[in-house]
Amino acid sequence: MGITYLPEERLFQLDTPHTTYCIGIVDQEGFLGHVYYGRKIDDVRGASALMRIYENPMTPQVNSRDRLSFLDSFPTEYSGHGVGDYRESSVRVRSAAGHSAVLLTYESHEIYRGKEKLEGLPATFGSQEEVTTLAVTCRDKALGLRAVLLYSVFEDTDAIARSVRFYNDGSQPLYLEKAMSACLDLDNRDYDMITLHGSWARERRMDRRRVSHGKHAVSSLRGEPGHQEHPFLALPERTATQDRGDVYGFSLVYSGNFRMQAEMNQFDSVRITAGIEPEDFSWKLAPGESFQAPEVILVYSGEGLGGMSRAYHDLYRKHLIRSPYRNKKRPILINNWEATYFDFDEKKLLDIAREAAGLGIEMLVMDDGWFGNRFDDNRALGDWQVNEEKLKGGLKKLVEGVNALGLEFGIWFEPEMISPESELYREHPDWAIAVPGRTPGLARNQYVLDVSRREVRDCILEQMFAVLHSANIQYVKWDMNRPLSDLGSAELEADRQGELYHRYVLGMYEMQERLLAEFPDLLLENCSGGGARFDPGMLYYSPQIWCSDDTDAIERLAIQEGTALVYPLSAMGAHVSVCPNHAVGRNTPFETRGIVALAGTFGYELDVTGLSPEDREMVRRQTALYHKFNDLVREGDYYRIASYGDNHLYDCFQVVSKDKGESLVFYVQVLGEPNRHSRILRLQGLDATAVYHVYEADMQGQAAGDGPEGMIKDTEKSYSGQLLQNGGMVLERMWGDFRAKLVWLKRQ
Ligand code: DGJ
Repeated sequence: MGITYLPEERLFQLDTPHTTYCIGIVDQEGFLGHVYYGRKIDDVRGASALMRIYENPMTPQVNSRDRLSFLDSFPTEYSGHGVGDYRESSVRVRSAAGHSAVLLTYESHEIYRGKEKLEGLPATFGSQEEVTTLAVTCRDKALGLRAVLLYSVFEDTDAIARSVRFYNDGSQPLYLEKAMSACLDLDNRDYDMITLHGSWARERRMDRRRVSHGKHAVSSLRGEPGHQEHPFLALPERTATQDRGDVYGFSLVYSGNFRMQAEMNQFDSVRITAGIEPEDFSWKLAPGESFQAPEVILVYSGEGLGGMSRAYHDLYRKHLIRSPYRNKKRPILINNWEATYFDFDEKKLLDIAREAAGLGIEMLVMDDGWFGNRFDDNRALGDWQVNEEKLKGGLKKLVEGVNALGLEFGIWFEPEMISPESELYREHPDWAIAVPGRTPGLARNQYVLDVSRREVRDCILEQMFAVLHSANIQYVKWDMNRPLSDLGSAELEADRQGELYHRYVLGMYEMQERLLAEFPDLLLENCSGGGARFDPGMLYYSPQIWCSDDTDAIERLAIQEGTALVYPLSAMGAHVSVCPNHAVGRNTPFETRGIVALAGTFGYELDVTGLSPEDREMVRRQTALYHKFNDLVREGDYYRIASYGDNHLYDCFQVVSKDKGESLVFYVQVLGEPNRHSRILRLQGLDATAVYHVYEADMQGQAAGDGPEGMIKDTEKSYSGQLLQNGGMVLERMWGDFRAKLVWLKRQ
């Protein structure tokens, strides 16, 4: 495994456990060509033929044919701009003289064990034993531009990390106007394109459509990925399903503006480009300066979408999430947002904590509204001092009270924002992002702080650190409740204003890095008005991200399905909330809400002091089930069995332990139907040779006893893995809508 160079053929072979990726260098011209990406090939000699460079329209050097025609069909590793490849460019550079043409050709390469950090950016990591990197240096001599294309392969996961670093080796400034992280040219095999789109409270719904001629893109100009589109794109063959067929995945490790695009050209080949959205992007490279593009993770799966998802889950769990919590059970938390909104005081919080403690809840999180004069969302962002009118006796006293009840304590911040109605704004109006002479647009009554500025970051972090040092705080929820607009920084020179979007993201990353350096044991949960910044970049800092402000169990099926297409269940912030649900007004059984939330980080978002005795008993059972099953949910392999989005009736997915010794089947019957047989579900991922005993989570009946084991009902049935996978598992219909079942299979 790893990376090999075949000098006689000038071919690079990059191997992961089940995939191979090949890059070729075209003689003389030094064009870097894409040769192959797909199922593993042990012996790749002769693979260069796949570039088809000796066919019409021929290699310019070989027969002096038309260079434009050649470049416009050549499968390249990184497309240039303005010199004959009319498909999507990967890079565009404005020279000091005002020209924009770029053509990068091979100069040298290096292969080494391990993987370097990407300066200022989140990125995957691994030891020298786990990762091998290929760095191909390319150059445009006319510009004095050097680009190093980086490829890292992982020994244990079918994923390849790609990124690019640019250097200005010339004597004049260069302006990068586009710097995509990766380009991949594939021969067309009748691909679909899957993206994740949405809106506030409707994040990451799967959207599948055919790739036809022309360009198909998703992007963001919001300064964050946003609720609307997502920095991810999958290219499944049209016939590919959850468990069959070829699929290519592209996931960008970045939390700002992005563009993910598929383009089919005149010869029916498909070019994927992924990286920072070029619109409103420009980066000045003074002589000697460099620029690092974020990394994009490529996955090829020959086992359908499920294979792709599992590769991303494994990679992100092992090689992206750094938190000390990544392999640990997270505390079951109760967040007061939906319970109280802004209307709380220390007494209310202590009442919630007292009740929660008796139900197995382990942490109280105090959400928005504890600081400055924040009695509503019109004010006080930026004034991070505890409001002692609300929290009488101060934060330390409150936290001690909560701790004395046996709960840990967490707190909410929105560090990147400023309210016009705040002390901070009165003192530093120029710290808000704005265009001089233009009043910036408000969203949720707030402006965005220019965190590209060091003094702004210092001021906010200083306030946060003072709060966090003042009491025993184990968790921070880092929120961001509006997108960027009216881009202008009071600090940047005119020819650097185009850098602000990216500098903002770098500034925010630096703040998260410093927060974690100051509090290494902190459990950080990122959030952005629900799930507008749920991306791999943020996972580098926080092992979990709030999925959506929509906590309705049925809406969550689609949100969590789309999220789990790329991200491990251990990363998905999921809570049980009250009914009628605050986002849709739907009533669902408490049991169903619990089962759906158990597929994520698990917690509560309601006023437990007002629960009925039956619901309180349900919380007790759910928290016990969390302890029984969270190791499996957090670390296991995810299989999608059925999608409510497709069948409009029911949803089913499965988590299987790595050793296949146990599996948890999540089943939700969204709509009841009259006069139907029971349902047969063909399971996946089991040990075909084993026999599994079947248990069910018991949320309703007489619990068999206290503790996790007491919440499990033995069905006294056992089946072979082969039968469960090939024949299926029979699930009886339940009476009514929105019913759920949790089935646990244990190898005998
Ligand atoms: C948006 C978050 O998604 C909510 O959970 C809550 O923290 C509010 N912001 C608070 O303003």
